[in-house]
Amino acid sequence: MTRLSQSIWAGRSSYRGREAVKSYKVPQATSLPYEGKMLEINNLDAYYKNLHVLHGVSVHVNEGELVTLIGSNGAGKTTLLMTICGLVREFSGTILHLGTRLDKLPAHGIYKLGIVQVPQGRRIFPEMTVFENLKQGAYRAPGVRSMRQNLEEVYGYFPVLVERKDQKAGTLSGGEQQMLAIGRALMSSPRLLLIDEPSSGLSPLFVDKVAQIIADLHRQGLTMLLVEQNAHLALELADRGYVLENGEIVTSGAASELSQSDLVKTAYLGL
Ligand SMILES: Nc1ncnc2c1ncn2[C@@H]1O[C@H](COP(=O)(O)OP(=O)(O)OP(=O)(O)O)[C@@H](O)[C@H]1O
Ligand SMILES: [Mg+2]
Repeated sequence: MTRLSQSIWAGRSSYRGREAVKSYKVPQATSLPYEGKMLEINNLDAYYKNLHVLHGVSVHVNEGELVTLIGSNGAGKTTLLMTICGLVREFSGTILHLGTRLDKLPAHGIYKLGIVQVPQGRRIFPEMTVFENLKQGAYRAPGVRSMRQNLEEVYGYFPVLVERKDQKAGTLSGGEQQMLAIGRALMSSPRLLLIDEPSSGLSPLFVDKVAQIIADLHRQGLTMLLVEQNAHLALELADRGYVLENGEIVTSGAASELSQSDLVKTAYLGL
């Protein structure tokens, strides 16, 4: 196991859910018994005013799993991640993290529990330097790990960010910006990383690089929910997957089984 894994993620064994919950005051009425699932979504419907986007979605992610959500444009993948993070507020259903109701918490409370997103389109701060962007991610870390430790490890992961640390983030290439977006999320010592379309718009070389990083993080035990339109890539990386069509989960299973299913083969793998 590398030094990085010993500290950032393996720290999870000493930094478990109930400790995290202790540091965030969750109202008693919203706490349910611990069930061990890093994420458990039950019967979720989500809306943008009159637009009903998600229909009865149930998805779970076990600790240490890499689960993928595949689906075409407009299926509701980003909406699902935004709802988990507390950024879409019109919904019904329940969302739990280690037995705690996330759906009752504000976005900053969810973030504080270590549920961190790498958003679609990166959303880095273009006028800030690479270093300043990374510092933004350290907001959650006080009391978890020192910023210096996380920074050292993120730089170890992405040497290009060391070379560019004083460069304005908006001047990085698309691939470098994706590395920065992932690095910024890692700065917060996440317990559950939600990654939205990391390969989008990248050259094949950077797609490979990002895939390698996700595979490394997975090997080191980080729990992830990966949204990807590139179903080949997603199913290669993931343990399990769900297919979302028009806001509904139409099939799910082990990644190896999904990639053999007729629906996935024809609709998403182009076979
Ligand atoms: N802020 C918003 N306000 C209103 N409608 C929205 C908003 N965001 C998304 N939608 C709509 O919700 C539906 C689902 O969008 P969403 O972004 O979740 O899809 P997606 O699966 O992530 O698509 P893509 O693969 O293109 O990223 C779409 O019809 C979209 O137009
Ligand atoms: Mg999306």
